[in-house]
Amino acid sequence: MSNNTLILGLQWGDEGKGKIVDALAEGSEAVCRFQGGHNAGHTLKVDGEQKVLHLVPSGILHPSVHCVLGNGLVLSLPALAKEIQELKESNINFKDRFYVSEDCSLILPTHIAIDQVRDKEEGIGTTGRGIGPAYEDKIARRAVRFGDLKNIEDLKIKLSTLVNYHNQILQNLYNAQPLAFEDVLEELISNIDLYNNYHCKTQDLLKHWVKQGKNILFEGAQGSMLDIDHGTYPYVTSSSTTAGGLSSGLGVGPRHIDSILGITKAYTTRVGEGPFATELFDSNAEQLAKVGHEFGATTGRPRRCGWLDLKALETIVFINSVTNLCITKLDVLDGFEEIQVCIDYDQNQQPVYETFRGWQQDTSDARSFDDLPKAAQDYILFIEETLDCPVGIVSVGPSRDQTIYID
Ligand code: IMP
Repeated sequence: MSNNTLILGLQWGDEGKGKIVDALAEGSEAVCRFQGGHNAGHTLKVDGEQKVLHLVPSGILHPSVHCVLGNGLVLSLPALAKEIQELKESNINFKDRFYVSEDCSLILPTHIAIDQVRDKEEGIGTTGRGIGPAYEDKIARRAVRFGDLKNIEDLKIKLSTLVNYHNQILQNLYNAQPLAFEDVLEELISNIDLYNNYHCKTQDLLKHWVKQGKNILFEGAQGSMLDIDHGTYPYVTSSSTTAGGLSSGLGVGPRHIDSILGITKAYTTRVGEGPFATELFDSNAEQLAKVGHEFGATTGRPRRCGWLDLKALETIVFINSVTNLCITKLDVLDGFEEIQVCIDYDQNQQPVYETFRGWQQDTSDARSFDDLPKAAQDYILFIEETLDCPVGIVSVGPSRDQTIYID
């Protein structure tokens, strides 16, 4: 019987999904992404070496695992080319195991230019990677897609209309420099090898694999609170980061997902602007940021830090049908006198906290639930009980072995 698992971030991204996908990829035959683009940043530590992946699923580090970028992604060809090149230099093999959907919408340099000038006015704090403008064109049915690289003459016609439209936005709305059509075209054509080597009707591939009973991991990017529909709109990303995004972004129906692993840090962080009820501005915030190395993997921006928000997570667990929880970065809480957890909001939407005794021990060497200090165990059990969802994994450090599996 198949065991297809969806892995999702339950907060504002950066929950440590990359490490968990990497760990679970070992027992899987394929790892597939279904939304977002190179705004994602998955930091992994493998054999003591740090790797940051933005587009390629972290399963690629396992030689026999197949990796897919599904139709729901927006794709930057230069970013993909660079990442593949770097991974190949680390002797990672892509041949016959890396597939990119022909239906992915492409991110053009003009999307990046629009994203950056617009964000200066709108102040969402985007990653500046062109994600929002690329999804806009997808929804408006004018996107250039990966499969369009098949026919360069037709591509030129489509691209010329789109670049012309983008340049009007840049010049007329933002008084910004237009980009030359030839340069945009050149960027696509110079990456034609990506099309030749990896293009695929991934929906058919996935259907075939699911019918064969392959074990597949579906890897969410960003986090549920950045979801275009269910997140803190308008301070969100432009894709469906929740479980619903999987079916549309890969063409795999909900019945084929056997378990849904929701990942949350033991506290909360957020990059960019937007509401954050449990945000801290005191020495606790500094300690979380410092010990947790809370800087964005994609942009290097410092992350805002705060306590865990179980009130928000309870809704997110429901939206995603989470079947199991994974708590990451528990070790970052080592040494706190007290730890607070939001269990509700008052009538002014201010968090109501439950206070926990901290633990003064190093948990980074714990390898089983029993190895953890009693106060840390109580903290985990409280999360499990409040969210009414079993905790299956606890991560106590960046390395593969710093992981506790709970039956
Ligand atoms: P965009 O996805 O670049 O449009 O950015 C929209 C919002 O999502 C901003 O607040 C970003 O900081 C946030 N965001 C996008 N990708 C990530 C991620 O991978 N981790 C954390 N935040 C992200």
